[in-house]
Amino acid sequence: MRVTVHLPFCVGVENARWRAIRARATRRRRLPRTTTAIASDAVRGGNVAAFAVFAARRMGDAEARARRREDDDGGGDDVARGCASDAAAAPDGDGGRGVVVDVRELEKDALRRRFTSSVGACGADEGAIVDAGLKTTSRRPLAVVVHEVTYEVRKRGDAHARVRLLDDVSAVFPPGKISALMGPSGAGKTTLLDVVSGRKTQGYLRGRVVVGDEPASKAALKTCAAYVEQFDCLLPSLTVRETLMYQAQLKGGPDVSAKEREAHVERLLDDLRLRSCADVIVGSALSRGVSGGQAKRVNIGISLVTQPRVLFLDEPTSGLDSKTSYDLMRVIRKFADEDGVAVIATIHSPSSEAFRQFDRLLMLKGGRVTYAGPLFGEEGAETYFYSLGYFFDPNDNFADFLISTAADDAADFPREFAQSFHHKRNRDEVRKYIKDVVHRKSIGDTSSSLSSAIAEAPARSSFVNAVWTLLKYRTSRNYRNAQFVGARCAGHLIFAVVMATMYWNQGKSMSLASQINVSNMLFMNNVLPAFAAGAYLPSILMERPLLYRELDDGCYPLLAYITYKVIEETIAAFVVSLLATTIVYNAVGLVGNFAVDWLTYFGVQQCGAAIAYACAAVARDVDAANAILPVYNVLQILFAGLLLHAEDVPRGWSFWPPTLFVRYGWQAQMLNHFKRAEPSVFLDADGALEGVTGYYDIRGSVQGNVLFLYLLWIAWLALATIVTATVRHQQR
Ligand SMILES: Nc1ncnc2c1ncn2[C@@H]1O[C@H](COP(=O)(O)OP(=O)(O)OP(=O)(O)O)[C@@H](O)[C@H]1O
Ligand SMILES: [Mg+2]
Repeated sequence: MRVTVHLPFCVGVENARWRAIRARATRRRRLPRTTTAIASDAVRGGNVAAFAVFAARRMGDAEARARRREDDDGGGDDVARGCASDAAAAPDGDGGRGVVVDVRELEKDALRRRFTSSVGACGADEGAIVDAGLKTTSRRPLAVVVHEVTYEVRKRGDAHARVRLLDDVSAVFPPGKISALMGPSGAGKTTLLDVVSGRKTQGYLRGRVVVGDEPASKAALKTCAAYVEQFDCLLPSLTVRETLMYQAQLKGGPDVSAKEREAHVERLLDDLRLRSCADVIVGSALSRGVSGGQAKRVNIGISLVTQPRVLFLDEPTSGLDSKTSYDLMRVIRKFADEDGVAVIATIHSPSSEAFRQFDRLLMLKGGRVTYAGPLFGEEGAETYFYSLGYFFDPNDNFADFLISTAADDAADFPREFAQSFHHKRNRDEVRKYIKDVVHRKSIGDTSSSLSSAIAEAPARSSFVNAVWTLLKYRTSRNYRNAQFVGARCAGHLIFAVVMATMYWNQGKSMSLASQINVSNMLFMNNVLPAFAAGAYLPSILMERPLLYRELDDGCYPLLAYITYKVIEETIAAFVVSLLATTIVYNAVGLVGNFAVDWLTYFGVQQCGAAIAYACAAVARDVDAANAILPVYNVLQILFAGLLLHAEDVPRGWSFWPPTLFVRYGWQAQMLNHFKRAEPSVFLDADGALEGVTGYYDIRGSVQGNVLFLYLLWIAWLALATIVTATVRHQQR
């Protein structure tokens, strides 16, 4: 229906009139709720022009939105028409007054839209296909329903008290619709998003979150849903295309062929309008890459490689200009329309154009619902707030109006909402859905949409494939980075050259002084690689947010990540240990088995790296890790046997030296060098002469010490894995 409203007197209405309207609104006179009553009230108040604008907006809204989408999509395609008819007749508020949303109908609707967009035909027996599809077909749309959710956390500084962050929140997030989560800062939007998406790592949760027909479990959500964090967390050295390929390979599993993967990524590049920057690196603050808006779209793209049924977005448009945020929302709109994805996005102050892409609104304040229901239309948020006395000036941004209105402390919005018709409608929508789920279970309907979605989801990458993918995309890039290679090689080679010049040919002499010099040199040859492990800390800690995100996304198991890290570090360590040992061995004139010296150096390096992983896992940040690692290494130096002979270690400390990898490395190299000739030139405690290994109380055999060294490497790796798995620094 086209409504034409003539506003001859609007011209004369200027700011004074609007100010008067606002003044009345802020006095919060409760206005009647029916259209006629609103009209008469407005007219009685002399606010005819305002009412005319209001009525025109309300009545033309559905039509205008439909037309806008048609225009945006190039006009006239099936999807746009689907939206248009939907907007005009949808039960979620753009249509009849007081109609409760039937989420099942919206599920069917989303399936129908996907069918028409993928098959490209509206003929056939669409209804039958949709009905059959809801029972059996793949990629059934999933609704998300939150039922009376209350979430509390422990109060800081008081172990027994709790703080309630969400209070009795109920809402429906239908498939194919974009729902906005709004409210003033600290309202609980991100908290709700985390609760619904199963990402909370602490706290006490009551109530139900249902996805499809089942209570949402973390594992199910990992499979069927994707979460786009507020801050981009990407690998800076990969190009946009490589980033999507990397994620597709990690998440795609063995069932998806390389060709299918490539085709999907190319499609995503088009859908996300990233083709123009497909071969540009993502970049970081230090190396310029794609723009902020493009990075946001890449971030969304990596969530879409698994074709999720539910998409959670935390402030997708924050920090973007109005054009970029509109483009972004158009992309998301397309996924909702064509794939029936249920989109739930927290949002702060989007541009008017971007905000028009949303269908529904859940507003929170202090963790309580202040509005839940359709965003636009006759039963939408504008009408609701008008009924509370808050009038929206059409010249303003509607999102800003909602936020500033909700922030008004003069009103108890949660209480107002609880008494409103809109609350009743929201409650009925939720109850209807829950009742339907319970009913289906009670009659033995086992065709759960969530279970089938999980079953249909592509199997995740195998352990070997995950390690291979990490090496292919990350290690190959890291080794092209001069800083990465430099941090791992330069220190070792500098130490080797300095020691070569310091101890030149000392190993060829067996004088007392030379034996002591060589013993000291071999000791430092083990201490320095242990200290050099500090070079691994920054990259491990900087990668941690990415690791958490990829673990949360189910990209790979933690063990695959540790394996990849060990292989990555081993490549550099293998080469650099060989070079460093060659320099020192030849320059100093060591006479033992070269392979033993090399393997020992390599083993000490690996132990150092494993301890660096463990420190990084324990420490909250780089500063803490940089403080912990040297403390441990100094404690090694003190007890490794050179500064205090093993037999002189106080009884209380006797447990400590056997745990030190530097000690085993030094002992192995000492025995290796001195085993052939070891003149007895040192006095023992009884005044008898003994060799240098006896003097330093070197124990065991070369093989035994090397074996212990490698056992300690495995033990430290195991510890690092356990600590990384159990200590989670990012609390949500
Ligand atoms: N783990 C926690 N322990 C204690 N308080 C918390 C915890 N998590 C969140 N909060 C508090 O809960 C409130 C809601 O936080 P939340 O991050 O959900 O707000 P928000 O609505 O997303 O705000 P913003 O718009 O600023 O992002 C805040 O006051 C926050 O300090
Ligand atoms: Mg937030």
